[in-house]
Amino acid sequence: MDACLAARRGYLAPMSPPRAALTLASPEDTCALAAALAPGLRPGDVLLLSGEIGAGKTHFARCLIQALQEMPEDVPSPTFTLVQSYDTPAGEVWHADLYRLGDPDQVEELGLFEAFETAICLVEWPDRLGELAPPEALSLHFTAGEDEDARRLEAAWTDPRWDGVIPPLAA
Ligand SMILES: Nc1ncnc2c1ncn2[C@@H]1O[C@H](COP(=O)(O)OP(=O)(O)OP(=O)(O)O)[C@@H](O)[C@H]1O
Ligand SMILES: [Mg+2]
Repeated sequence: MDACLAARRGYLAPMSPPRAALTLASPEDTCALAAALAPGLRPGDVLLLSGEIGAGKTHFARCLIQALQEMPEDVPSPTFTLVQSYDTPAGEVWHADLYRLGDPDQVEELGLFEAFETAICLVEWPDRLGELAPPEALSLHFTAGEDEDARRLEAAWTDPRWDGVIPPLAA
């Protein structure tokens, strides 16, 4: 199978080489990182959250959304709804979980392409987008760490937009 076809079918994450990597020693560490990134985000920003089941994508997204909310509310995993949106003082936030996406065409029906332009978007299982993933997005890839409560996080981006926004990652 060629690389393009493999990427479309979701075998390869559409991620450029990592620009920063760090260890998140506990769920609280992951939450603190999400909260540190939150104030720098604005509508039109897309974060692609990749990693295996249980890697911590929803945990990160939940902490980030709650950090943006005036009154932090329940943030369920959008496993079955595919997308969930939130109004925050920083603008609308879309949280998507594309694991169950049937076909990339469904992304259009969900309104996700429009949201990429108008909202802060957090997208789990972005490999389902294949070539439709926005190239200016920040990619965050979670993997298992050395112990049960640790995770490794690799960040990749090409858009200079992210150079100054994520000093906690670049440190
Ligand atoms: N360092 C850590 N960072 C994030 N989560 C952690 C960490 N250590 C342990 N966990 C736990 O791992 C679990 C991660 O679950 P989560 O739902 O966030 O995974 P996910 O990547 O969204 O999986 P899925 O692909 O099923 O949506 C949570 O129970 C969380 O408490
Ligand atoms: Mg999840």
